[in-house]
Amino acid sequence: MVWRESAKERAAVEAVKLVKDGFVLGIGAGSTVAYALREIARRIREEHINVLVISASSQTSQLARQYGIPLTSLEEHLHLDLDIDGADQIDKELNLIKGMGGALTREKIVASVSKTFVVVGDESKLTNTLGKNQPLPIEVLPFSLPFVMSEIKKIGGQPVLKKSSSGDSPFITDNGNYVLNADFGVIKNPWQLNRKLKSLPGVVETGLFLGMADMAIVGTERGIKILRKNQ
Ligand code: A5P
Repeated sequence: MVWRESAKERAAVEAVKLVKDGFVLGIGAGSTVAYALREIARRIREEHINVLVISASSQTSQLARQYGIPLTSLEEHLHLDLDIDGADQIDKELNLIKGMGGALTREKIVASVSKTFVVVGDESKLTNTLGKNQPLPIEVLPFSLPFVMSEIKKIGGQPVLKKSSSGDSPFITDNGNYVLNADFGVIKNPWQLNRKLKSLPGVVETGLFLGMADMAIVGTERGIKILRKNQ
């Protein structure tokens, strides 16, 4: 799967073509948006465009700072022109599973306040059915962990607590919470599952991004594919 890195890069570079001078941009998290940040930095340097970025994760903010990309906040800009973010799975209706990097809650907030939400990834992210070979990340308050785990099991999920990169402690989100990666198998009705999960006290957010993405730019082995909402 060596092609995947260049496919991600192609998708990210294509997405950055949508950025116009003066845009306030949302940028999510992960390895694909890292390519987008590099391309934004290049356009700032070579084309002298002015953009401001609201980042959905501390890692993305760090990378943006390294590239010299100016950051802003929701306090200053509550309406974003464009959000570019990766995904873990993308179905035909552009419903997504996101959050394997643990930044799902901020990513969902940033996507919610953006006029246009473009998801980027390589072709391996496309699926006919969300949940197939893909757990669903769910951010939970640490206090609620045993309760939420038991409720997830009752509705057919197998939750696993996400660990830090060293593997010996729980992963802590930028919001100070835990993440459960819950295997539900094929998710037949993502809207219903999302409602059930969101009704559990202690669930902060789920990685189901439903009806949110306007466009998916997907890098293939040799080129790119563009999918649009309701196409
Ligand atoms: C981060 O929390 C995720 O939602 C990422 O957007 C997702 O995991 C995609 O990451 P990659 O671009 O690294 O595959």
